[in-house]
Amino acid sequence: MVKAVVLGAAGGIGQPLSLLLKNSPLIDELSLYDVVNSPGVAADLSHINTPATVTGYLPKDDGLAKALEGADVVVIPAGLPRKPGMTRDDLFQKNAGIVRDLIVGIAKTCPKAFILIISNPVNSTVPIAAEVLKAHGVFDATKLFGVTTLDVVRASTFTASVVGEKDPRKIAVPVVGGHSGETIVPLFSQASPKVEIPEDKYADLVKRIQFGGDEVVKAKDGAGSATLSMAFAGFRYLTIVHAVRGEKGIVEPTFVYLPGVAGGEEVQKAVGGVEFFAVPVELGPNGAAKATNPFGGVTEKEKELLAIAQKGLQTNINAGVEFVKQSG
Ligand code: NAD
Ligand code: LMR
Repeated sequence: MVKAVVLGAAGGIGQPLSLLLKNSPLIDELSLYDVVNSPGVAADLSHINTPATVTGYLPKDDGLAKALEGADVVVIPAGLPRKPGMTRDDLFQKNAGIVRDLIVGIAKTCPKAFILIISNPVNSTVPIAAEVLKAHGVFDATKLFGVTTLDVVRASTFTASVVGEKDPRKIAVPVVGGHSGETIVPLFSQASPKVEIPEDKYADLVKRIQFGGDEVVKAKDGAGSATLSMAFAGFRYLTIVHAVRGEKGIVEPTFVYLPGVAGGEEVQKAVGGVEFFAVPVELGPNGAAKATNPFGGVTEKEKELLAIAQKGLQTNINAGVEFVKQSG
């Protein structure tokens, strides 16, 4: 039996993600929590004739603890999205506290659950989660993931259009680093199958992958950021549930605390000592089984991108760690 919990389930990402989960044969029990409208979303989804049971909770009557009770996987898309002109870091002020408080709930109620963080800025909210879990004595790096799958999905789509592949799903480009602007690094040298990016298209393609989120924010013109593509990507990352159910050999790029994952120390050395970094991670029933080192054959251009990413990431990580220290 697998119980999945969505925190922020009534939002732009939360609703379509919950729909995909309700439709998934991998999930037996779906628990939806939000500060508004989660019972309504749960009632709506519960009419779908798939086996997963659905329940919705609000903060009143200890709703968070009830929602989290017995959770195997908790996905967190709770928090504010960007408006035009904002960076993801501008969301820190509001979302840092939201994520901290939700993680306290997880630490108290279901400390062994897999935790998947979507709330931005991911580069800081994941370190915040790690610090809170450490403070409660329940931190397990193999169970904490920043969801960077949307970058992988975009890299596949945008690269396919450059190389003329009609089915983008056939192109897999590992995307490493973090989840904002220049901390996002696509490694075309490690793509599968091999791709040749024309010299005159390389810089624009990298930029489009790094700033894909801005395209959506601009197009939505004040109505939020990516929700449907994020729900798709979040659900794709929830193949992690295959791993929870015992399937081996699943590898997906994800943002993890390197020192706590097998193989992570080698990767950490390769990225200038940064502790949190997205790399392809092999998943198993107990979580992150191995962080793989994708830097063997990287090009000089990719090395330059990686160096820029490391710097930005370290600043974002420090902000998250400092936030938890300051808030006691
Ligand atoms: P949204 O405003 O549509 O939904 C957010 C939901 O969170 C709302 O329903 C709100 O009520 C709820 N919420 C707020 N505070 C809460 C709390 N304390 N507990 C529980 N729920 C709470 O926003 P959205 O478009 O769904 O985006 C959500 C977050 O995901 C944003 O921070 C956004 O930047 C981020 N995001 C991340 C990625 C990624 O790739 N990791 C992609 C897209 C969006
Ligand atoms: C994205 O990449 O689409 C998300 O992180 C949302 C955003 O703010 O761009």
